[in-house]
Amino acid sequence: MSNAEIGLIGLGTMGAALALNIADKGFDIAVWNRTGTVTQDFAAGAGDLASKITATDTLEDLVAAIAKPRAIILMVPAGQPVDDQIAALRPLLDDDDMIIDAGNALFHDTNRRAREATGPFLGIGVSGGEEGARFGPSIMGGGKREYWDRVAHVLEAISAKYEGTPCATWMGEEGAGHFVKAVHNGIEYADMQMIAEVYGIMRDGMGMDADAIGKVFEGWNNGPLKSYLIEISGAVALAKDTSTGTPMLDMIVDAAGQKGTGRWTVIEAQQLAAPIPAIEAAVVARNLSSRVGERAAGEDLFGAAPQPIDGALDLAQLEGALIAGKVLCYAQGFTMIEAASEAFGWALPLPDIAKVWREGCIIRSDMLNDMAAALAEDPDRNLMYADRFADYLRGNHAALRAVVAVGATHGVAMPSLASGLAYFDAMRTARGTANMIQGQRDYFGRHGFVRMDNGAKDQHGPWAD
Ligand code: 6PG
Repeated sequence: MSNAEIGLIGLGTMGAALALNIADKGFDIAVWNRTGTVTQDFAAGAGDLASKITATDTLEDLVAAIAKPRAIILMVPAGQPVDDQIAALRPLLDDDDMIIDAGNALFHDTNRRAREATGPFLGIGVSGGEEGARFGPSIMGGGKREYWDRVAHVLEAISAKYEGTPCATWMGEEGAGHFVKAVHNGIEYADMQMIAEVYGIMRDGMGMDADAIGKVFEGWNNGPLKSYLIEISGAVALAKDTSTGTPMLDMIVDAAGQKGTGRWTVIEAQQLAAPIPAIEAAVVARNLSSRVGERAAGEDLFGAAPQPIDGALDLAQLEGALIAGKVLCYAQGFTMIEAASEAFGWALPLPDIAKVWREGCIIRSDMLNDMAAALAEDPDRNLMYADRFADYLRGNHAALRAVVAVGATHGVAMPSLASGLAYFDAMRTARGTANMIQGQRDYFGRHGFVRMDNGAKDQHGPWAD
């Protein structure tokens, strides 16, 4: 049999969900997993979709089951496993058969794999978690356009739809898709962190219980903050532990995991000299959260940091702070994408990136539709200066300032919101303080500066002698 439209290797959570999604959209798919029982269990559990799925026992059988020219999706863990899988698979393929890495690869790896590939290769970022993979993810493609065009009908069919438009788009050459996915995850980290910070004020500063907090998030999900992350934050806060009846949230250790995509974004931002402080702060906060023992020792030594805020803030201010924080964090993410687009010569389609994130992915939110419109007007302009978002900031930066200030005076750490605020203030200060840095650099190293009065470069101060 060699009639499957597409193949898929790796039937872990995401791979299995994606395979079912592909079958569900009417495509015949051949699947293979390194551990044979996983493949058999998957096929056995496929129900009505079983007739669309060919479960294979060997890589050779997988390849034989796919129509030529073949396209095979890899859903294996990022890193060495991808290289190992490509090395095992490529010799079995014809020259024009295509390998598609749909895992969360580091985009530098995807660049390398695309350059080294001896046949067609695509790297695609897939967002939306298990449910997204099963029912409609957001897909960010990278590689040669002609390769994307060969499989676009499948990827568009399985993707989420925003008012009928598929959330699957080609972003550019080589690792462009995985790069955009990494920035998506960086924004995801900051969005999640800001929500967690506001949760901290409600819990520790306002003394609210998880139920009350959940209801606040539910309410905010009817306003400008409407988004998947606010929705699930409400659901998480409202859930009860089935065995004890205690709010589930109160049963979870406060140490955040991470697979590394946020860290990649931050490292790359530094390489690009792209300022994304709210995202950096979110990664730092995750690192710091894992130091559970040290934090407990610190509390013993100095006393607990958070104090009741005694009415110093209301819920509308918290909502306003999150609105402003969200705008600033997305603005940072998009400016980083723009910087990469220029540095790597990719011509990344900023409005289309906002569009592809409108449905299916973890950061999907109502605001992204307006962001797409603002970026279509002027892709080079920082979103915080676009009318709609400048209005959000004008209307809400006082709330952000109040929340960060109360956090500081009452011991509730707000690293991402505070970094967002510092970014906002810095980005609206025509004369900053780097003249002092330049003076210092010139003093100790004769590094030179530009004069204010006549624009002359490589100037030195009187201290030079
Ligand atoms: C997505 C998510 C996903 C991410 C996991 C875990 O877009 O579907 O970003 O790709 O890898 O949610 O990420 P962390 O372990 O880094 O939190």
